Amino acid sequence: MTTPDPLAVEKALKDYSKGTKAYFADDSEGWSIATLQSNVVDGDKLTLSFRLDATGKEFTFSSSLSKLAAEKFAGLPPLKNPPMLEGTDDLATLSYLHEPAVLDGVRIRYAQEQIYTYSGIVLIAMNPFQRLAIYTPDIMREYSGKSRGELEPHLFAVAEEAYRTMIKERKNQSIIVSGESGAGKTQSAKYIMRYFATVDTLESFSRQTSSDNVAAAPQGISEVEEAVLATNPIMESFGNSKTTRNDNSSRFGKYIEILFSTPEGPKNSVRIVGAKIRTYLLERSRLIFQPATERNYHIFYQLCAAAPAAERKELGLSSWDQFFYLKQGGTGIVPGFDDVAEFAATQKALSIIGISVSMQWQIFTICAALLHIGNIEIKSVRDEATIDDNDPALIQTCQLLQVDKSAFKKWIIKKQIITRSEKIVSNLNQYQAIVGRDSIAKFIYSMLFDWIVKIVNKNLHKDAEDVATFIGVLDIYGFEHFKKNSFEQFCINYANEKLQQEFNAHVFRLEQEIYVQEKINWSFIDFNDNQPCINMIENKMGILDLLDEESRLPSGADKSLVTKLYQRFAVPTEKFFEKPKFGQTAFTIKHYACDVTYDIEGFIEKNKDTVADEQLAVLNDGASEFLKEVIHIDVPDAALSPKPGPRGGATKKPTLGSIFKASLVQLMETMRTTEAHYIRCIKPNSTKTPFGFESPMVLQQLRACGVLETIRISCAGYPSKYSFAEFAERYYPLVASKLWGPDPKKLTESIVASRISDPDKFQVGLTKIFFRAGQVAALEKARTERIRYCVVLIQTNMRRYLYQKRYKAIVQAALTVQTSLRAWSARESLKEKREQKAAVVIQTSIRTWLSRSYYEALRSAALSVQCALRVQRARKQLIDLRQNTAATRIQKVFRGFIVRRDYKLYLAQVVLVQSWIRTHAPILELRQLKTEARSVGKLQETNTKLENKVVELSMALRNQESENKVMAEKLAQFEHQSSIWKEKFQKADLDSKAVKVEFVDNSAEFKKEIAELKDVNENLSKEAERAKALAKKRDEEIATLLAELRQQKDEVQKLKEAAAKVVPKEEDTATITALKKEVAALKEQVSRQVAGKWKTDRVADAQYQQAPSYHQPQYQTTYVDEKENYLYSSYGEPPSRPSLDETKRPSVARRRSFMDTQDLKKSALSSLNPEAERSARALEDKGLEDEINDALITNLRIPLPSTQTVATRKEIFFPAHLIGTVVSQYMQRDMPHKMQTTMASVMKSIQNLTMKFEDDYVSAFWLSNTFELLCLIKSIQEQEKRSTRGSTTESDRAIDKVRTEMDYLLIEIYHGWIKELKKRLTNMIVPAVIENQSLPGYICKQSGGLWSKWGKNSTASQFTIEQLLNLLSKLSKTMRCYYMEDTMSRQILTELLRVIGVSAFNHLLMRKNFCTWKRGVQIQYNVSRLEEWCTSHGIAEATLHLQQLLQAAKLLTLNKTSPQDIETIFDVCFLLNPTQIKKLLSLYYAADFDSPLSPELLKIVASRAVLNEKSDILLLDLELSPEFVKPNLKNVENIERFIPSWTNLPEMQNFLLAM
Ligand SMILES: Nc1ncnc2c1ncn2[C@@H]1O[C@H](COP(=O)(O)OP(=O)(O)OP(=O)(O)O)[C@@H](O)[C@H]1O
Ligand SMILES: [Mg+2]
Repeated sequence: MTTPDPLAVEKALKDYSKGTKAYFADDSEGWSIATLQSNVVDGDKLTLSFRLDATGKEFTFSSSLSKLAAEKFAGLPPLKNPPMLEGTDDLATLSYLHEPAVLDGVRIRYAQEQIYTYSGIVLIAMNPFQRLAIYTPDIMREYSGKSRGELEPHLFAVAEEAYRTMIKERKNQSIIVSGESGAGKTQSAKYIMRYFATVDTLESFSRQTSSDNVAAAPQGISEVEEAVLATNPIMESFGNSKTTRNDNSSRFGKYIEILFSTPEGPKNSVRIVGAKIRTYLLERSRLIFQPATERNYHIFYQLCAAAPAAERKELGLSSWDQFFYLKQGGTGIVPGFDDVAEFAATQKALSIIGISVSMQWQIFTICAALLHIGNIEIKSVRDEATIDDNDPALIQTCQLLQVDKSAFKKWIIKKQIITRSEKIVSNLNQYQAIVGRDSIAKFIYSMLFDWIVKIVNKNLHKDAEDVATFIGVLDIYGFEHFKKNSFEQFCINYANEKLQQEFNAHVFRLEQEIYVQEKINWSFIDFNDNQPCINMIENKMGILDLLDEESRLPSGADKSLVTKLYQRFAVPTEKFFEKPKFGQTAFTIKHYACDVTYDIEGFIEKNKDTVADEQLAVLNDGASEFLKEVIHIDVPDAALSPKPGPRGGATKKPTLGSIFKASLVQLMETMRTTEAHYIRCIKPNSTKTPFGFESPMVLQQLRACGVLETIRISCAGYPSKYSFAEFAERYYPLVASKLWGPDPKKLTESIVASRISDPDKFQVGLTKIFFRAGQVAALEKARTERIRYCVVLIQTNMRRYLYQKRYKAIVQAALTVQTSLRAWSARESLKEKREQKAAVVIQTSIRTWLSRSYYEALRSAALSVQCALRVQRARKQLIDLRQNTAATRIQKVFRGFIVRRDYKLYLAQVVLVQSWIRTHAPILELRQLKTEARSVGKLQETNTKLENKVVELSMALRNQESENKVMAEKLAQFEHQSSIWKEKFQKADLDSKAVKVEFVDNSAEFKKEIAELKDVNENLSKEAERAKALAKKRDEEIATLLAELRQQKDEVQKLKEAAAKVVPKEEDTATITALKKEVAALKEQVSRQVAGKWKTDRVADAQYQQAPSYHQPQYQTTYVDEKENYLYSSYGEPPSRPSLDETKRPSVARRRSFMDTQDLKKSALSSLNPEAERSARALEDKGLEDEINDALITNLRIPLPSTQTVATRKEIFFPAHLIGTVVSQYMQRDMPHKMQTTMASVMKSIQNLTMKFEDDYVSAFWLSNTFELLCLIKSIQEQEKRSTRGSTTESDRAIDKVRTEMDYLLIEIYHGWIKELKKRLTNMIVPAVIENQSLPGYICKQSGGLWSKWGKNSTASQFTIEQLLNLLSKLSKTMRCYYMEDTMSRQILTELLRVIGVSAFNHLLMRKNFCTWKRGVQIQYNVSRLEEWCTSHGIAEATLHLQQLLQAAKLLTLNKTSPQDIETIFDVCFLLNPTQIKKLLSLYYAADFDSPLSPELLKIVASRAVLNEKSDILLLDLELSPEFVKPNLKNVENIERFIPSWTNLPEMQNFLLAM
């Protein structure tokens, strides 16, 4: 033995360090996990001690290194994958790919109630044995259009992949569903078929049923699709039965091709146009025999349980236990199976397929006859079989089959042998007769089954031209291995061998394809090819050939066959055949899954499977045409269906084996032309316990279904493949940060170069890196270690930093305390010093004060004495001074008196003299005047003189006045001066007094000065006196002059009177009047001169007062204009207005307000005038209607909601109001018909316009307007009712009708728009609400799991929550701008928010590898943004629709470590049902350093989620939108007749003007 290479040993043992987990074979569990405790290498001996995780039991693994090395270390215990890969949804991504790892992967997922797992291209489906809510239309919708890796593994993902590939590549597809009995193949196939039938319908937003009952046809599917689905209940009734392993076990294989039409339309949509079914190997023996607890085919029990009384009697049916063929298993009723309901379903399905009820009863008649055949009693009399002629069963059978009773009886108990010369009829013994009887029954039943398939195919595949592609679903029995295996198992396993070979080739091809695509160096992978095994069975002189050969021999027997087999195959070259050690009745074939030993008994008989010619002839000679049709099946592809011929021509007849082989070959050919998809169903436990897991059973099936084989192929190549970006993102910590760069490929290469030395262990492709098995686990381990190291490093530094910080804080604190203490003591000493100094200061001050007080007392005494003396002296001086002053004043008064007295006397004398002279002279003058007056000339003269005099006088007067003024001014001046002097004097006086006191000695000097001042004063007084006198004199003079004037006036008067007495001549009078005028003028002049300025002011005032009259009329004019322009004000420019005469005024007034009843009357009256006639004509005219439809609706330029200017209600609702005006006019003129037709066309136009969905504005605008119009029409109707005319029933009816139609229109616009909005939202919701990561610090690097993205780069979401909110805000604003009814806009927004909440929630529930803690935080944030938006927009109630989503997000962030946490989760997420919580928890994806959910907790959750009617809904119903609630119609007071300037509505304008 060679010593192993130490390097290789080291490398192999590198992964076996302490703490490593590995698997150990375990009889009960399959494999159990153990942790390595120690690793000892002693020379060539290796000892590994392990402790089992589950039991804690210790044990050791020991082996010699050389032995291990010889096996390339394959003998070492298989290693467990890193926790990161636990529960991965694709087993192919496991780093250690081996049996235990695969089993463990499946087990973990199944424990989390995730029944589907990928294993490369295969979908492993574990039977949950429990109804799950994962097949609803909502889930289908979720999977529709998604690529395989995007969502959790599911049947629908596979179906979707097949469906899309078929459409895209126009290539036929097939889905191979296999697995052992009861694993869920049929169920899965049914779900897949349902998916195909429904998926296209789902894409539209139509309402769907949420039922997950596979039998129930979803709504909205076509007839053909319904018919295709209806094949299931039919095939199941006739081909399924209860077995120990499965209550609804399919006893035949089925390949159904679902035929699709050519893709059409922009979406390349296809429809199901038909289906084609092929069946394989129906288990005939079940008809005549059932093992204990098993049943016959369902249809018999259904018939017995559900046939109506009449038919029951006619067919002789009774309870199932009355029939030998039904009661052998002892079970007639299957729990959970309702035969009555199933029978109804079968009948319905038969009808759907197109089998008439009468034909159905013919089928059932044959079935009943078969039951009776079983009851025919064959007795043995002297070793010969006999049948009683009156056997009721025999009678009934022959009646039902319409065959001759005696012939029928005869050929049961007798047989005919044809030799060359004669026909020999011999009796059969009882056993032989029973076999004969049963073979008739088997034959008829198998014929009936094939006939049904044929009819179904015929009806489902009518127009072959339409078919473009198909998807075939193969529901075929999986590999079977029982204690006793018979011919059926042999056939089944042979089929599985073939399928497995195809599968291996497919996987192998795919694997190689990737390598070629990525251009990596690879060599052909060697894999276990099972072709030799197949060859052994089907080749020339193979097992099947030998079997056929033996069957054709009349003496052929099982024994001789087995001997032949031994001879042929029990040779050393044949690796796949084995002769058992004991006995000569069996042989073993080494199948790919396991070795199976077949019991040879019955091989020949089953292979022949014939019925006697005579019996066949009896049936053929019968009266029943239907029976003949059934048994004379003559299909072109005869090779496919077992058609045993008469016993005679044995050489030509195909045997069952050859038929089966042929059909398999054909199947393989078909499949090779299609792209295959594989679903492997696994039955996890034999007791059908929900979520029970029996490891050995699963392991055996995993082996059988070829999953492990695939893995073996994978392992031979590079099983782990990651895109560079994915890899770099995960493993960048493994290299130094300086190597981190933007190019993921480079980074990947540097990571790999630093970690993997063996170049064979990896390959760098074009977009991916490939690893040999185990490498990723090593990398993962290194990564964990690296991260742990980093964590420790960070912790170390953090701790150091914290302690340093604490130390610094303590030092600082000590310093602070010291400082404080020192400061305190310093302050104390300072205080003491200060006190001492203060005492000194106080003493000093007191002493100072005392000395000063003493000094001040002395000083004030001296001063008092001095003061008293000085006062006395000053007082004396003052008295003297006073006396002097008094004397002077007396003298002054007296002297003044003397002077005034003299002056007055003198003045009186002067006046006397003057007055005398002045009196005398005028008298003389008067006299002279009198004489002169006697002549007119004199008079004139006098007059002139007088005038002159007057002038002079007035001159004198003016002079006097001016003098007077001058004098007055002077006087004022003097007075002013005197007052100044007086003041000065007083001041001087005061000064003097003051000075007198101080300076008595200087008094003389002062006195002198005072005297001087007095003199001055006196002079001034005198002067003032004089001035006063002068003024007085002037006054007097003026008085005299005035008196004189008055006198002269009197004189003139007198003279005038005298003159009047003289008879005046004509010219005199003229002169007089002229003079008078002159005098008057003069007077006026005088008076004007006297009060010149005053007069001027008055003139100005008068002018001013006249001014207001100028404004008044102008204002009025404007007002009138304004009034009259009212109607036209909005036309841009007023059109040339016709003059408004009085008759039109009322109609102008009407234009401004809604017509009340009065107005209505008036306008009714006005119909008499021509204008009204014109408007009536306009109403009848088509032009107006066309204009409304065309310019007002279809081509209207809708005012866009802008931020700057907000359109008024008038500007938004003008179409409604204009239409309303027209309607009201129609109603007033009693034209309900016209109104109805106009409104119908208006509604049609609105409908056409809004259904185009060009823009939200259009929908919003017209939704608002339609509602307004509805309100208007209601108001008009009420007006009509109130008006005195009273509405006629006809018009009332018409308006009612219009209202109803408008209601519909409103609802239609609403729903149409909502639908359109929803469509627009659908693409946005998931990226914006679920994927958008707006909270920095909580960013998840990628949207999916690390391992799931095969070649699919994560795309950044293109929509953000902001964009979504913007869209909503824009919408809300648009609605506000269009004054949409609040209730309506609320409904719209609420509905949209509901759709957002529901879609996001549903998506989250389906999303794979997505639900992390951080995502929870992000989604919560996004939802809170939405909620904020709702509250800020006043629709807080809409947040209710987001609650489920919010709770789901909360669930992700809550703790999930203990049972209490689960309680909390259920409390917090009270809106979610247990199924949803369970699903979310099972989806929960533990990111780095977050612990994954333990299986125990999942069990607790599962126990709470017991399915019941209410709680099993997984996804929320997207279609469950609330009904539209029409807002209450409001009363519109005014119908506005407003036509905006931007519109072109000439007809309408004219119409309005004419009204
Ligand atoms: N996806 C599933 N969800 C719930 N129950 C399932 C599912 N698949 C299978 N079952 C249960 O398992 C039972 C057996 O399934 P099914 O009849 O499909 O098995 P099969 O593989 O077709 O078996 P056979 O080979 O005997 O026909 C079903 O009756 C059903 O109760
Ligand atoms: Mg089945």
